[in-house]
Amino acid sequence: MAYKFLISTLLLVAVVKEATSATNLTFPDYFKFGAATASYQVEGAWDEDDKSENIWDHITHATPTYVDENDNGDIACDSYHKYKEDVAMLKELGVDYYRYSISWSRIVPHGLAGTPINPVGIEYYRNLTQELLDNGIEPLVTIFHWDTPEILQDIGGWPNPELEEHYAYYARTLFEELGDLVKLWLTFNEPKQTCMQGYGDGEKAPGIKASGVADYKCTHVLLKAHAKAYHIYDEEFRATQNGRVGMVIDTEWFEPASGSDQDLEASERALQFTYGWYANPIVNGNYPQVMIDRIDARSEEQGYPESRLPKFTDEELEYIQGTYDFLAVNQYSTSYVEWQEEADINVISYGSDLNVHTWTDDSWESSASDWLKVVPWGIRKVLNWVSKTYKNPEIFITENGYSDAGGLEDDRRINYYTEYLSNILEAVLEDGVNVTRYTAWSLMDNFEWTDGYTVKFGLYSVDFDDPERPRTPKQSAAYYTKVITTRCLVDTCE
Ligand SMILES: *[C@@H]1O[C@H](CO)[C@@H](O)[C@H](O)[C@H]1NC(C)=O
Ligand SMILES: *[C@@H]1O[C@H](CO)[C@@H](O)[C@H](O)[C@H]1NC(C)=O
Ligand SMILES: *[C@@H]1O[C@H](CO)[C@@H](O)[C@H](O)[C@H]1NC(C)=O
Repeated sequence: MAYKFLISTLLLVAVVKEATSATNLTFPDYFKFGAATASYQVEGAWDEDDKSENIWDHITHATPTYVDENDNGDIACDSYHKYKEDVAMLKELGVDYYRYSISWSRIVPHGLAGTPINPVGIEYYRNLTQELLDNGIEPLVTIFHWDTPEILQDIGGWPNPELEEHYAYYARTLFEELGDLVKLWLTFNEPKQTCMQGYGDGEKAPGIKASGVADYKCTHVLLKAHAKAYHIYDEEFRATQNGRVGMVIDTEWFEPASGSDQDLEASERALQFTYGWYANPIVNGNYPQVMIDRIDARSEEQGYPESRLPKFTDEELEYIQGTYDFLAVNQYSTSYVEWQEEADINVISYGSDLNVHTWTDDSWESSASDWLKVVPWGIRKVLNWVSKTYKNPEIFITENGYSDAGGLEDDRRINYYTEYLSNILEAVLEDGVNVTRYTAWSLMDNFEWTDGYTVKFGLYSVDFDDPERPRTPKQSAAYYTKVITTRCLVDTCE
């Protein structure tokens, strides 16, 4: 591996030269770099050592055509068996930390609160975490990254209020069993995708289509589950474990199509319906006012006896407000947005509740993902918006990256990282945004949900045709290492 790594470092020189308008400023000493994966996307071993089925196991087995080329995560990168190799790659990259997620159905195979904990599941994550610490790499652990135990889906999944209690049991178990080693916890990854895609448009497991109803119920339960996990940590573990807890929220940037008041309002509304849907409750208490006003009014006109957007009690509002030690942002892409005439009142969906017109510019570079355009300035605007809207919090960038169809000579990925990191650095040094961490998605090519293995985000390539799943560094891995060691994006830094 080291030999290939050297070759790619040499090849790289040419690529970086042809870049770029990137800043030649350097990253401050406190700024940390990491790389990320998620359990279902890399682990495999889907039914090994008493792990039970989760919603992704279930949908890919029951409906293979749900995923491109009928693929699934049964083996994926086989990280369940190859975690030491993964840690060796992270060490070679030189990252400060690794963001990975824990498989709920590996830890609580029966899903329900009070049911037995699987000791082998705990052992696996203790092994992985200890291996990281032994190599000087800090763990940043996502408690839930989309892989709900199937048994909990059988009782209705996230729209069922009982999930709060089952999640709290699982989270407490992790704090108890891993909290001596793990000091940074992320309760949920991109809850908007769990709720909107899982229960709204059906694009992710469990594939339910009930937009404008089930997605709001899902979020309501999920926010309470998040708050409960935060309070459990606060009351039972923080004093002895000294860690921190936050939630990962994703958003595009919505660039107003013009400077008109209407388009500016449409942009703000879109941000509130995406990032604000989750951040406003945990920072300020309650959903954004624009969501409450619009969904309440449309529900009433549609003849619903009560709003499709559930209401928190005063007690719940107080319980949820302030449940974050930092804000975390996943950011990849940007759309233009403009105001539009009110949607047909008969249409019941999140999209018609939001009711803005969005599109992307044909001139923006594409990727292998239809939702991902290369718009580096968008991330600077998102960071400024989050900072301004939520009282200048500490911000972790918990995902950012570029997809292609594969190959080791990934100059478009290097370009993406260079240009996005340049905008992040300018947000930090010129705009005063308090970003302290940057996480590249992903450490390696992996199971990209309904795109299966056709879309690649990795710094390392994985050969999915080889039962050994060998990993090979791409040129972008060498570039990322160079950024981490020089703390600079270009060859000539101040
Ligand atoms: C954890 O590590 C121990 C010691 O290397 C090993 O015997 C055990 O099989 C590992 N367990 C898992 C689940 O990886
Ligand atoms: C960023 O936030 C952390 C945590 O609140 C704080 O310690 C640090 O001083 C902040 N840095 C800046 C530059 O505001
Ligand atoms: C860094 O960039 C600035 C502004 O573009 C330029 O004036 C300066 O010469 C550059 N420094 C180096 C070492 O290239």
